[in-house]
Order: sequence, then C-alpha cells, then structure tokens
Amino acid sequence: MSLGDVTPFHRFARVYDLVMPGERGNQTAVALSSADRDVERVLDVGGGTGRISRNLPVDEPVVVDAARGMLEQARSHGLDCVQGDAGTLPVPDDSVDAVVVVDALHHMADATAVFEEAHRVLRPGGVLVVREFDPTTVRGRALVAVEHLVGFESRFWAPETLAEQLRDAGLDAAVLESGFGYTVTGTKRERE
Ligand SMILES: C[S@@+](CC[C@H](N)C(=O)[O-])C[C@H]1O[C@@H](n2cnc3c(N)ncnc32)[C@H](O)[C@@H]1O
Repeated sequence: MSLGDVTPFHRFARVYDLVMPGERGNQTAVALSSADRDVERVLDVGGGTGRISRNLPVDEPVVVDAARGMLEQARSHGLDCVQGDAGTLPVPDDSVDAVVVVDALHHMADATAVFEEAHRVLRPGGVLVVREFDPTTVRGRALVAVEHLVGFESRFWAPETLAEQLRDAGLDAAVLESGFGYTVTGTKRERE
C-alpha cells in the first residue's frame, strides 16, 4: 500500500535542510496556543528532518515520519523519532497534547486517515495544527505544477475545504491564517 511521497524524501534527506528555508515567523508554535490544555507532548507527523520540531516551545517533541533517511537527520539534531505512517500512528489513544503536520499533508496518501488518527491520539482539548499551501492562489498554482512536474503525487486543498475535513473527523476547526501558506487548527472537544 502506498503511504504517499516517501521514497524521494528518504533519498534526498541529506540535502533537505540545505534547500528548505526555515519557517518564516513561528506560526506553528503560535497555533499550538489554540489548544484548550497545556501543550507538553507534541507529535510532529511527517516531521522529516525535524525542521519544525527544532523550534517548537516544548521539551521533547517526537518526530514521526515514514522516511528513514529523514529520521536519521532528525536524530542527528537530538530529536526523538519514530518511523511510521501518519495514517496509522504508532501511539496510544488520548496520549498527546498536539499533533502538527507541516508542509507534509499534501504528500500523504490518505488525508482522512491522518485526521482520524490525530483525533484518536489527541487528549481532550488537544490540537491538530496543519500548515499547507493554497492551490487557488497564484503561487499555489505554480507550486502544484512544479510538484507534479518533479513527480510528486501531491494533492492540495483550499483552507476552508481542509477545515471542513477536520470537522468531518470530529475536530473543532478554524482557519488561523490564509494566503499561499496557511494554517488550519482542529481542537478535540473536552467531551464528545
Ligand atoms: C516536505 S517534507 C516536510 C517535513 C517537515 N514537516 C518540514 O516541514 O520540514 C514531507 C514529509 O512527509 C513525509 N511523509 C509523506 N507521507 C508520509 C506518511 N504517510 N506518513 C509519514 N510521513 C510521511 C515524508 O517522508 C517527508 O519527510
């Protein structure tokens, strides 16, 4: 079964940090404050080399990624890592305060499974933070074309469409930031 775009990331893991800019601003960290609980335990799903985890305001984020090469890089930065699929997360129910998925959802084969898994592993009041790119913007259209040109199977969603999918997974969703790069959060209700 395909997990999504994993093999290219495994192969090019050693150069990933050289070609990727750092996160402009600290949008992911800011979005964590949407949680209705203290955020200590964070899973960085599709976290790759730990580019985002390295700057999160928590002590021990855990990077989950399907590409072994990316995790080797993340480990070299001292991060805790687990190899696994975002659609079947290797952690128990109600065990983390936040799940972040940055620049990764569009590479994953089954976005619905990712949201359902986030809902399963989050503690009540915990938050899912998704940072993605809007394919309806000019830069978004260019990004879609380039990703497909280089052979990625990427699929992109406009912010409100993604928020609706989080709601379908049982999360209270909000669009925090719009534009080419956008942020959607989904909070797990205290009682369901
Ligand atoms: C563009 S990288 C983003 C890495 C990191 N979040 C960042 O912002 O630097 C996308 C990552 O998603 C991972 N990925 C793709 N499909 C996956 C899946 N089904 N489960 C876990 N990781 C996956 C890839 O291996 C890759 O490391």
